[in-house]
Amino acid sequence: MRRSRRDSRPGTRTAGCRTEAPIDEQPQTWHYGLVAKWWAEFNDDFRPHELPYFLRFVEEGQPALDAGCGAGRLLLPFLRAGLDVDGCDVSADMIAACREKAEAEGLRPNLYVQAMHELDLPRRYRTIVVCGAFGVGSDRERDRQALDRLRDHLEPGGTLLLDIEVPYADQQLWKYWLRDERASLPEAARPPAGEPRGASDGTGYTLSTRVVDVDPLDQHVIMEMHAERWRDGVLEAAEDHRLDIGLYFEHEVLLMLERAGFEDVTVHGEHTEREPTADDAFLVFVARR
Ligand SMILES: C[S@@+](CC[C@H](N)C(=O)[O-])C[C@H]1O[C@@H](n2cnc3c(N)ncnc32)[C@H](O)[C@@H]1O
Repeated sequence: MRRSRRDSRPGTRTAGCRTEAPIDEQPQTWHYGLVAKWWAEFNDDFRPHELPYFLRFVEEGQPALDAGCGAGRLLLPFLRAGLDVDGCDVSADMIAACREKAEAEGLRPNLYVQAMHELDLPRRYRTIVVCGAFGVGSDRERDRQALDRLRDHLEPGGTLLLDIEVPYADQQLWKYWLRDERASLPEAARPPAGEPRGASDGTGYTLSTRVVDVDPLDQHVIMEMHAERWRDGVLEAAEDHRLDIGLYFEHEVLLMLERAGFEDVTVHGEHTEREPTADDAFLVFVARR
């Protein structure tokens, strides 16, 4: 019998100063608490071509929405360029971090705490960017609903740009598609590699991840992240967060977009405007309403 995803949910663990992440029955993302702080503090770099690629589309189609904007890695450069871009994210902590970073630069974007499958915003957009967020913290039905909601938030003729990392690009995960490798799951918790990374407030952060479950039939992965905050050699806080990831291949995303009513769908390789190849880790789907 097919194993249910719920059977493989990681248990909670406790330690002296550990804060428990809520474990509920919904798919989850790990972008909360200390993990959100880490993203806001350190996650500002880009893959090759990523920023100019998205910038060009947003320049040509405003207003725009950055859906799953996180702490503003893309949204802040869009705003600095004077573009009319709103942001939304399911994580209130990521939105709070994004708002704080924007306000520190005198920027006041419209930011919303909403899951993509329940998107209900006051504006309609010429462009919607979904970068690193499709299939994250979700499940297949919610992802299908998200495409409907994203389409509804586009003006007629508007453009959706949605990227995925193809499942076979991640060596750590791909091996678990094989039954014998999968038998070793869940991975043991690892100690964080290296010294805490210094943050702007004088604290230091560590992160370590582990794969908890991979279901190749359902194309679903559960990962766990352990985060710590240190100050002057003393552990101040520790948290465990879970991430659900839905894995998608090119052709099924094309079918899902078609089913959601998108037209003229083009696929680009690695945030460039060329056709994708089998060696590309990232694909971008460019779809018109
Ligand atoms: C990998 S981060 C990418 C953030 C940002 N787009 C970037 O490129 O830096 C994924 C983001 O998606 C958000 N997210 C996860 N599941 C979501 C959902 N179902 N609806 C909206 N946002 C979601 C997370 O909270 C997180 O901020």
